[in-house]
Amino acid sequence: MSHKVLVTGGAGYIGSHTVVELLKANFEVIVVDNLCNSSRVALTRVEGIAGGLVRFYECDIRNSNQLLKVFRENKIESVIHFAGLKAVGESVTDPISYYENNVAGTVQLLKVMRQCDVRTLVFSSSATVYGDPASVPVCEGFPRSATNPYGRSKLIVEDILEDLCNSEAGWRVARLRYFNPVGAHASGEIGEDPRGIPNNLLPYIAQVAIGRREYLSVFGGDYPTIDGTGVRDFIHVVDLAKGHLAALNYLGVNEGLLTANLGTGSGVSVLQMVAAFERACGKSISYKVVDRRPGDVAQCWADPSYAKTVLAWEAQCSLDEMCADAWRWQSKNPNGFVI
Ligand code: NAD
Ligand code: UD1
Repeated sequence: MSHKVLVTGGAGYIGSHTVVELLKANFEVIVVDNLCNSSRVALTRVEGIAGGLVRFYECDIRNSNQLLKVFRENKIESVIHFAGLKAVGESVTDPISYYENNVAGTVQLLKVMRQCDVRTLVFSSSATVYGDPASVPVCEGFPRSATNPYGRSKLIVEDILEDLCNSEAGWRVARLRYFNPVGAHASGEIGEDPRGIPNNLLPYIAQVAIGRREYLSVFGGDYPTIDGTGVRDFIHVVDLAKGHLAALNYLGVNEGLLTANLGTGSGVSVLQMVAAFERACGKSISYKVVDRRPGDVAQCWADPSYAKTVLAWEAQCSLDEMCADAWRWQSKNPNGFVI
């Protein structure tokens, strides 16, 4: 009998790549997504890549009646919870939506899980919980802080999950702190498809390369870093997806709460990323150095050694692979999933 896993937000960027890996590993996958930031087409592509079927419910995690129906119809054993909103700027102008989707939505999910006696959960946390880290690389025990409502929603959910694990035996919860996911599945069939103007670096560079944007604005050239631009830990989304399977394996044999960084352990600057993308696409990327983006930190990269020890997982893909795969997705799908 295969293990049944519910993936909330499974039509999204990280979710769709994780569903591919789950299907390849013979999990039975049920996806709940309200498609507020994704397309149904992504799941059709996922099925094509993995050669398996996904049971899809167009459903909002805040709707507990619908969620209960999904649990009752499927005998779910564990949950990977990606569903949520993730745009930092939008969270500042519309905090209620962020607390409603990310915090209240997660509480609804947890209530239904408990009602159905499902106590295994992998949660998408973020390196944003480290705020502006005092030093790099960043370890799991570093102090946490939030500088915007999105980050605070992640902090609050992290705390809720800790309280839950302390309240009752039987919970098995992983809080995975992602660094900067980039790239796409090597098939070029699925990838990141931001709506409107991309907030994040790599999708923006890819849209400059394909001709949808004129130039990249490099936010700040005066940081105390190798070349003055921001430094981040970019991780291939397929490596990240595999980290979720490692977490499920771990939770299969360990009760309680696990918190782990998922990053590569290497810092890459904005200009180093531009150069890597130029190698991948064979074009030059126009850019202009402009003012810093408010709220940005100079540098942030992971100490990923804890995940290696406890999950037997580590990132494998190089920066060049991340860029080559992002470019393949972008050039095969210049307008994303719009077909
Ligand atoms: P995404 O927007 O591509 O995926 C999220 C999915 O959740 C989307 O398909 C969206 O339609 C769905 N969704 C949102 N609210 C929902 C709701 N109320 N009910 C049902 N479905 C809902 O984002 P992603 O990049 O795949 O991120 C997945 C998770 O990882 C998010 O929780 C995000 O905060 C977290 N995360 C992402 C990054 C990143 O850089 N992409 C970094 C750290 C953490
Ligand atoms: C951003 C979010 C963070 C979130 C993460 C992953 C902010 C302040 N932080 O982090 O909460 O967890 O995305 O989704 O938004 N850059 C440019 N030009 C651009 C875009 C980005 O120079 O057009 C630079 C940034 O200044 C930064 C680096 O590229 O130095 C990476 O930016 P981005 O991809 O947005 O990720 P983070 O800032 O790490």
